[in-house]
Amino acid sequence: MTELPLADFIEQVARRTDRALDACLPAARVTPVRLHEAMRYVVLGDGKRFRPILLHAAGELLGAPAERLDVPACAIELIHAYSLVHDDLPAMDDDELRRGRPTCHKAYDEATAILVGDALQALAFQLIAEDPRLDALPAATRLRMLAELARAASSRGMVGGQALDIEAVGRELSLAELENMHIHKTGALIRVSVRLGAFCADPVDEAHLRALDHYAKCIGLAFQIRDDILDVEGETAHIGKTRGKDAADGKPTYPALVGLEEAREMADRLLGDALDSLSPFGERADTLRALARFVVDRQR
Ligand code: IPE
Ligand code: IPE
Ligand code: MG
Ligand code: MG
Ligand code: MG
Repeated sequence: MTELPLADFIEQVARRTDRALDACLPAARVTPVRLHEAMRYVVLGDGKRFRPILLHAAGELLGAPAERLDVPACAIELIHAYSLVHDDLPAMDDDELRRGRPTCHKAYDEATAILVGDALQALAFQLIAEDPRLDALPAATRLRMLAELARAASSRGMVGGQALDIEAVGRELSLAELENMHIHKTGALIRVSVRLGAFCADPVDEAHLRALDHYAKCIGLAFQIRDDILDVEGETAHIGKTRGKDAADGKPTYPALVGLEEAREMADRLLGDALDSLSPFGERADTLRALARFVVDRQR
């Protein structure tokens, strides 16, 4: 467990994740050069590294070594980066700005952007399967990590949520449908981040895992509610993507369905629920508490 103040913890894990990502990506001079350059362009851009930070906080709380946590942290960030590249494609959200610079298909081209996503996803699973930093874990734990990550990224997780998002454009969803979409498209990867962090502290106590899982479900949904709010009231310069795009595209969002005020209250209620589920850990979970608050207060 870290004793660092949150800002220092965030900074420290973000920078170690940058280094770990840099090391796991193929060098830009390796053939096919354009593909590898584009992979590095999207992954090494200015992301918050929220999922790796969360994974490290959960894993360290349970006593997992940081070097081991770097592996699933990179894997999840690679899948997240792939999801953003595909999300921005003209066939999906058709966005030109991501992390403060041109989206992958603008900086390169659409075929490259599709292949970047495909390659990042494969690299994520390869890392967990063969990186020696996980060799001390039992094979069954490693397999469980692969299976849970696959499910979270699948048609029953993130990709399924993206499909619901695309189907929903221009239609009015019920609150339950909107919640279901958000839980899948964004919640699934956030939830599995916490779970993979916990698995690195092998053997994991199942009661601790359940408590952390509930925490992660709450903040996963709150994260996308905040993302919807920032699309309305954020600054393009801070969020690094074009503000107001959801409304322009007729996207179903929390502010569109329930209004900004109620959306904020819903995120706050989820925060309260997330904090409650950390009570078994006492003050050792203060970093996770601070990260939950960050989710609903963030400006980017
Ligand atoms: C943006 O995720 C897309 C969502 C799932 C809401 P982040 O807000 O974590 O984006 P980066 O990684 O910081 O760019
Ligand atoms: C994206 O949701 C979720 C995934 C990429 C899986 P959004 O479409 O709202 O994300 P942004 O706002 O483009 O980052
Ligand atoms: Mg989208
Ligand atoms: Mg989008
Ligand atoms: Mg959004």
